[in-house]
Amino acid sequence: MPSDPASLVVRPATIDDVDTLHRFSVDLATYEDEPDAVGSTPQTLARDGFGENPQFGALIAEREGKAVGFALYTFNYSVWTAARGLFIEDIWVVPEERRGGVARALMQGLARECEAKGYKRIDLNVLDWNPARGFYERLGYRWIRNWLPYRLSGEALAALARPSSKDS
Ligand SMILES: CC(C)(COP(=O)(O)OP(=O)(O)OC[C@H]1O[C@@H](n2cnc3c(N)ncnc32)[C@H](O)[C@@H]1OP(=O)(O)O)[C@@H](O)C(=O)NCCC(=O)NCCS
Repeated sequence: MPSDPASLVVRPATIDDVDTLHRFSVDLATYEDEPDAVGSTPQTLARDGFGENPQFGALIAEREGKAVGFALYTFNYSVWTAARGLFIEDIWVVPEERRGGVARALMQGLARECEAKGYKRIDLNVLDWNPARGFYERLGYRWIRNWLPYRLSGEALAALARPSSKDS
């Protein structure tokens, strides 16, 4: 089991990390039984994360110069808190480095970003079977039992956008 916390570095991802971000995103989707779900490519990650108006941010954890984990997040805003928050899209640690404090260090990096910038919340979704739930709860995350995620996408989204007889 990995152990030396001193050899662990957490840093913001740069455009040079897009291959790593893509590889880890596919690894996570595969772990979540959705191996074909990642529509991003290294090119779209470069465009959307590291251009003029970044749509996401990411932290990379490295041990001795080798990437061993990442956290990728987007931004949201709440009128309840009157502040931005972070939404964690992906967090992943390579299997051989698990239980060595890598993900805690990534989460600590995100918490520090929130403290520094006045962001009030970190949200995420987790599959009901995923043992990562124990990790989140260990860090103080709480399952919001009375809120259910809903999504509009694909044909349902296009259908709602189409003109209808109720428009006039
Ligand atoms: C979940 C995951 C990111 C945790 O990474 P990790 O580097 O092993 O976590 P850490 O070693 O930093 O653990 C931090 C704390 O959480 C605890 N923890 C870690 N995984 C846990 C689990 N599955 N169940 C309960 N507690 C857990 C650790 O014991 C540690 O507690 P401590 O600080 O009191 O010793 C990692 O297991 C992983 O990549 N899983 C596959 C991908 C995944 O499920 N991602 C989340 C998608 S929603």
